[in-house]
Amino acid sequence: MIRNRKIVIDTDPGVDDAFAILLAYRWFEKDSILALTTTAGNVGLETTTHNTLGLKKLLNASFEVYQGARKPLQVPLEDASHIHGRLGMGEYVFFETSALTSSEKAWDALYRIAKREGSITLIALGPLTNIAIALEEYPDLPQYIDALYTMGGSTQGGNRTPYAEFNYYCDPHAARRVYESGMNIFMIGLNVTELAFADETTMDGLSPVDADVKGLIDSLKDHYSGTLAGISSRKGSHLPDAVAVAACIDPDLCSYREVPILIETLDLETRGMSRMVENGRRPVQVAVEVDVERFREMLLSINELNC
Ligand code: BDR
Ligand code: CA
Repeated sequence: MIRNRKIVIDTDPGVDDAFAILLAYRWFEKDSILALTTTAGNVGLETTTHNTLGLKKLLNASFEVYQGARKPLQVPLEDASHIHGRLGMGEYVFFETSALTSSEKAWDALYRIAKREGSITLIALGPLTNIAIALEEYPDLPQYIDALYTMGGSTQGGNRTPYAEFNYYCDPHAARRVYESGMNIFMIGLNVTELAFADETTMDGLSPVDADVKGLIDSLKDHYSGTLAGISSRKGSHLPDAVAVAACIDPDLCSYREVPILIETLDLETRGMSRMVENGRRPVQVAVEVDVERFREMLLSINELNC
């Protein structure tokens, strides 16, 4: 377990983003979560930022929040509100949020913080637009990122199309840019997040002691067992972003295969596909196995969150 990594989380909450952020807050030392940056993705930027600030308030947290990209680099935003709800949190609404205290853009804040710290770990739970812009603006960024854990891609089929996972489909040009940057990337793709499905027993066991966190979790659970029940025949929840956070907390949670990845941008049919290639580029760490029971145990530890 690594609890004291210096962390920045880029996110588009998003139901599973919320689980992931709760998990990060449960495990990382409070002052090691340096900032959350927001991007358009599951829903629009105003909404993902609102939800991030709502989570900050709920957790009574002190991390800063910075707003990022309103749309993907080159394609229009095709959101996932049919999965996450119009307001991104299923049927849950954050009526109280923290205030946005800075107008600094996500990519500027990311670079500033990374350079100040000398080395940080970046966890990206949405489309990679903010990271790609940061790389354009600050080409020396990779030297300050010790690892990037990105939830995205897949070694088999996708969820947005038969070929592509949502985050990389949503902004394929950004994903490609990031994979070409030479950063030390850990790809936590659908192939492992689906294996680490949170089964019914795990979801039933989720019952946080903190009343506000419980209120949120209960509502998100209802969303999975109600609204989303028709989409999958499995009982339980698929929480891809939480698996990415867990992999960052516990380096032994997943096993990895080292291979270069190319993100498809040109072909309409395969847009956003993560393809394993031998193209001479720096290989990345592609998660291929996951300790499912360990992940479920970690998820249940959200019950002990003390806000
Ligand atoms: C990814 O897409 C989003 O809808 C989820 O929040 C997750 O980041 C899974 O494909
Ligand atoms: Ca997400």
